[in-house]
Amino acid sequence: MPRIVFHGSDGERRELDVPIGHTLMEAAVDNGVVGIVGECGGACACATCHSYVADAWLGRLPAMTEMEDAMLDAALDRRATSRLACQIEMTEALDGLELHAADNEI
Ligand code: FES
Repeated sequence: MPRIVFHGSDGERRELDVPIGHTLMEAAVDNGVVGIVGECGGACACATCHSYVADAWLGRLPAMTEMEDAMLDAALDRRATSRLACQIEMTEALDGLELHAADNEI
């Protein structure tokens, strides 16, 4: 099973097996990664799954939708590497991706 390296907003590094088709938000929430909250359940309506993708992976992710882009505008501290973890579905191609949680705790 492909893996994602999560960095919680508390600084903890976690390597997690993520089933194909699950979103990275679901994997993070199910495993208690600090900083990824997922308040809206993945409906792209809260931005509490705001995360920063490691630079090397930016161009390897599917392009973001207009809806994700608009929601990220509402997130605190948006950066060039910002994505919503609920909008990234796990695939074999993402094996090894590193994701840093933004400070989303509310
Ligand atoms: S979980 Fe709400 S926008 Fe991602």
